[in-house]
Amino acid sequence: MDFEDIETVAVLGAGNMGHGIAEVAALAGYEVRMRDIKEEFVQNGYDNIEWSLNKLAEKDQLTQGEADDALDRIEALVDVEAAVGDADVIIEAVPEKMDIKKDVYTDVEQHAPADTLFATNTSSLSITELSEVTERPEQFCGMHFFNPPVRMQLVEVITGAHTSDETLDTIEQLAEEFGKTPVRVRKDSPGFIVNRILVPLMNEACWLVHDDVATIAEVDSTTKFDMGLPMGALELSDQVGNDVGLHVLEYMHETLGEAYDPCPLLEAKVEDEKLGKKTGEGFYDYD
Ligand code: CAA
Repeated sequence: MDFEDIETVAVLGAGNMGHGIAEVAALAGYEVRMRDIKEEFVQNGYDNIEWSLNKLAEKDQLTQGEADDALDRIEALVDVEAAVGDADVIIEAVPEKMDIKKDVYTDVEQHAPADTLFATNTSSLSITELSEVTERPEQFCGMHFFNPPVRMQLVEVITGAHTSDETLDTIEQLAEEFGKTPVRVRKDSPGFIVNRILVPLMNEACWLVHDDVATIAEVDSTTKFDMGLPMGALELSDQVGNDVGLHVLEYMHETLGEAYDPCPLLEAKVEDEKLGKKTGEGFYDYD
């Protein structure tokens, strides 16, 4: 698939990342099919996109007409075949679990045209292993956005062991067309570049609170005001989703070793469904 031939982008998953990626693709002028497994999930994703586009229009970052046109380009669907049947590129943003993603690719492979490119928004998992459940591993790579996609500039474009240079070039051009800055990650390694740095930082922040070395406010004021991050480390964990951070850590712990042992405080947040902004409560309250 050449970059110039891309017209339709399917986004699988309408959660925090999926709906944000669908919004970015629609703003760049692509026809977008956003798919999730339940009507309520796609509706929620669609409502979030509408909120975000209106917010951007309110702040004069785009006109109301541009916001409305972008929303019109998005079709929200549950049926897989309808979502991917005419897609030129599929960007998958389903939960960060190897088995779930593999099942999705096995299913999607049956309905997607032979030349469709597959890009996974995985935060940490092996691109090579995921690509091997498809019949097109050379047309498969990572395309990792950051939360919130509409505001964050960087996209990691990650090679798998089988990915062709043509696929990487096309996906990088697509990222640029989305208005983003792609960085190529030339080795398929857990957490790639950003999460290899950021997720341990959020985990260490949890350990400091867990071990009673510092309060949440003390940790976050240090990371925000002294270290110059745009958000405190625990505020960021809430932004990313505590479940997402935990899944990435569990995988890094399994593949890279002890240094990535998830903090029990983070595990407890996930167990209590205090997942951060998206559930209204995490390390902070958002109601
Ligand atoms: N769409 C539209 N508007 C949005 C929005 C969205 N998706 N998300 C937030 N906003 C709005 C807010 O509602 C708020 O509006 P009001 O001012 O009306 O209340 C406004 O944006 C806040 O924007 P500001 O420009 O005032 O705030 P800011 O300059 O602090 O920017 C931010 C917000 C871009 C999120 C910034 O805090 C930031 O960069 N935070 C770090 C985010 C980050 O590092 N993300 C990566 C996490 S790692 C990851 O995602 C990878 C992974 O795999 C785990």
